[in-house]
Amino acid sequence: MFDKSSRPIVRRAEVSDLARLYEIEVKCFREDAFPPSYIMKFIRSPQYMTLVAVLEDKVVGFVAAALEHFGDYCVGHVYSIDVDPEYRRRGIGSLLLKSIEEDLRAAGAKACYLEAQKDNVAAINLYLKHGYKVVGTIRNYYGVGKDGLKLMREL
Ligand SMILES: CC(C)(COP(=O)(O)OP(=O)(O)OC[C@H]1O[C@@H](n2cnc3c(N)ncnc32)[C@H](O)[C@@H]1OP(=O)(O)O)[C@@H](O)C(=O)NCCC(=O)NCCS
Repeated sequence: MFDKSSRPIVRRAEVSDLARLYEIEVKCFREDAFPPSYIMKFIRSPQYMTLVAVLEDKVVGFVAAALEHFGDYCVGHVYSIDVDPEYRRRGIGSLLLKSIEEDLRAAGAKACYLEAQKDNVAAINLYLKHGYKVVGTIRNYYGVGKDGLKLMREL
């Protein structure tokens, strides 16, 4: 177990994190997990920003996002935010979200959006707590009968 008083740090994801990020992704989403090739793209492709949270030298969560340009207007899109179940409810998801928002803002994003499955109470509460508003519903976004909510906030 970890010392409850330890504080996580956030750093950019590295190729050597791949196996651990995939392990966390599978713990979070089982058969719906992104495959390793997708996670590798998050880490290596310059179009993505991927951050990891590290607690006592162990990667315990990650977030992946990208910038999208609409003419002069630039927004951030958060693709995934995952925290290892053993390390939840101690502010790590919030830290990752705030950190990626800072990076997106620094890169020129004026707003940030993301999607969550309609019944994903933990994720939706996390986003609402951080100022996101529901701006739409996306039918079958996560598969047949699995609708998504789109949430957005100004940065
Ligand atoms: C969503 C997730 C990233 C939250 O990570 P976390 O480290 O537990 O989040 P935090 O500790 O920062 O919690 C922040 C807020 O989120 C909400 N929240 C988090 N977990 C919750 C839960 N199980 N039930 C209800 N609200 C929850 C609460 O409002 C919480 O604030 P509080 O602790 O003051 O009540 C984590 O549950 C997770 O990895 N889930 C699986 C992957 C996933 O669904 N990702 C989102 C894809 S859209």
